[in-house]
Amino acid sequence: MPLLTLGPTAVEHEQHESFIKTPQQLIVVVVAAFLVPIIGIVLLVQLVISHPHADPVAMTPEATASRIQPVGRVEFGPVMAGAPAAAPKGAAKAAPMDGKTVYEKVCTACHAVSVAGSPKFGDKAAWAPRIKTGMGALFQSVLKGKGAMPPKAGNAALSDAEIRAAIDYMVSQSK
Ligand code: HEC
Repeated sequence: MPLLTLGPTAVEHEQHESFIKTPQQLIVVVVAAFLVPIIGIVLLVQLVISHPHADPVAMTPEATASRIQPVGRVEFGPVMAGAPAAAPKGAAKAAPMDGKTVYEKVCTACHAVSVAGSPKFGDKAAWAPRIKTGMGALFQSVLKGKGAMPPKAGNAALSDAEIRAAIDYMVSQSK
């Protein structure tokens, strides 16, 4: 009998149909089938669009400074590589820079605008607690690096005397 062979097929058919029994359910399923992907897309778009605003911390000067900082470190090399040529007698060590010159050549990059949490040039409140630690400690900080400040402020060509002079200059202008 054909009915017997159709038996399992009919049962399967019934099972498939059993989810949607009324027109209301059909509408719900159709609407959901449209809304779920749309909501998903809207959420994705919002995630992408709102991301820069969602993280204001990433836009602070400090965060920006720390992002651009590696570029700064790389650029300090060429500055000093060019310094001997710029020096009057042609030899870097023969004409040590005074504190003000070192500051303006090297340190100002970060300390003029308080990059990456550096104590700002002339900012007494920022410098007072650091000055208290003593010249020796400040010198060691610059020599070995501290926080976002690379060793020798990223400028290996600086002599100890030049570093000391630069610190002296910065400290004298910030207290
Ligand atoms: C790449 C940026 C950068 C440059 C260039 C830089 N500094 Fe700094 N400096 C910093 C930051 C950041 C701090 C704060 C470090 C901390 O406390 O975490 C700092 C702190 C200091 C301090 C205080 C250290 C302490 O122990 O509190 C001194 C002194 C200082 N810098 C001197 C200098 C001198 C001198 C130069 C130039 C030769 C220089 N800095 C160049 C970023 C820089």
